[in-house]
Amino acid sequence: MSSISGIQCKTLVQAARKFGTPVYVYNQDRVEAQCKKLQKHFPEITFHYAVKANANPELLRIIRKQGIGAEGVSGGELVAAMSAGFKKKDLSFTCSNLTEEELAAAVATGARVHLDSLTQLEQWGRHKLGSQVSLRLNQGIGAGHHKHVITGGPDSKFGISLSDIPEAKRIAKQYGLEITGVQQHIGSNALDEAVLLKAAGVLLKTAETFEGITHIDFGGGLGVPYKPQETELNLVSLGKKFSMLIKDFRKKHGAHIEFAMEPGRFLVAQAGLLLVSVTDIKHTEKHCFVGVNSGFNHLLRPALYDSYHPVENVVRTRGKKAHVTIAGNVCESGDVFAAQRTMYTPEIGDLLAITHAGAYGFTMASMYNLRVLPKEVLVTKANTLKDISFDPREFAR
Ligand code: LLP
Repeated sequence: MSSISGIQCKTLVQAARKFGTPVYVYNQDRVEAQCKKLQKHFPEITFHYAVKANANPELLRIIRKQGIGAEGVSGGELVAAMSAGFKKKDLSFTCSNLTEEELAAAVATGARVHLDSLTQLEQWGRHKLGSQVSLRLNQGIGAGHHKHVITGGPDSKFGISLSDIPEAKRIAKQYGLEITGVQQHIGSNALDEAVLLKAAGVLLKTAETFEGITHIDFGGGLGVPYKPQETELNLVSLGKKFSMLIKDFRKKHGAHIEFAMEPGRFLVAQAGLLLVSVTDIKHTEKHCFVGVNSGFNHLLRPALYDSYHPVENVVRTRGKKAHVTIAGNVCESGDVFAAQRTMYTPEIGDLLAITHAGAYGFTMASMYNLRVLPKEVLVTKANTLKDISFDPREFAR
């Protein structure tokens, strides 16, 4: 029998039998392989996994064991990372619109904090949170799969604009702070090498305008293909070009300068799928609706961003094909996982795998309509099924 997301279909059937549906199923091998790819192609870069992509404690431990750090955007994410064993030297933190208490609490964890605004910088100085600071910059360059996830440019709430750098320098001077780090994050799911390189190049240029920079963080955003016609980033080429930029910068400004990136999606997106069961079939004038026992409460991306997720029938690999619209069980018309897809005609009781759901799947799930969150199961390296479900309320602050 074939496999889906690197997991044998018979294992998926077992997962559904053992744990019921809907259930998120993750492939440990895939997560590890993605970590290794980045480390191989970007040897000069330290990686901090963006916990927001998937905060499952077992996945966090798997990623940590690959020698990757963690990046958080809330106190809760830092707590989750620390409980999964990440050491403070391996943590970083960026967040917009923090309370003063949240900022102080993030600093107290020992994480490297990238300040998102002049307000945060001023608070840092006033509360004497440390002598060295790092700034998150908005350099006017943005990218991403949807306007909601473009985090650089004129419409983004994030970062300190280049035009505010003189004021940032003035505040730093006033409080006796040294700006030793710069960071940016231009957006999410960039599949265009050129924009990633352009943003990195501009960040390095900006870094040169500060004296004493020791840490440069290029942010996350490395994309993965979701649609059949999309192609993956060429890591050989991208890695080489980043390497050249870094070597050149170190030659000019010192070999001690550290470089970092914060990938989230890249490590986990293709390693996870949401397994659902077909509960209803309804033919209307325009659609053949295939109803399933999950919805945007469990995987929000199609409803929120109109995101494409491949859907495969786990149990039916031959027979007639049909154009179907896969709809969830949430009480809203926008609850559609996939519209007008051609697939082996599903029948009630069939198992469907909604793939590429490992990133921003469970972390964005809710209990809307008062339905419980799905379970989470790991296909281990030994090809066994392990229940890794957790209650996010344990960590949320
Ligand atoms: N660093 C910072 C500061 C970020 O804000 C993010 C993502 C990342 C790193 C990781 O980005 P990644 O490598 O995963 O692209 N919910 C959306 C994605 C939102 C991303 C928000 N920030 C989605 O489902 O597409």
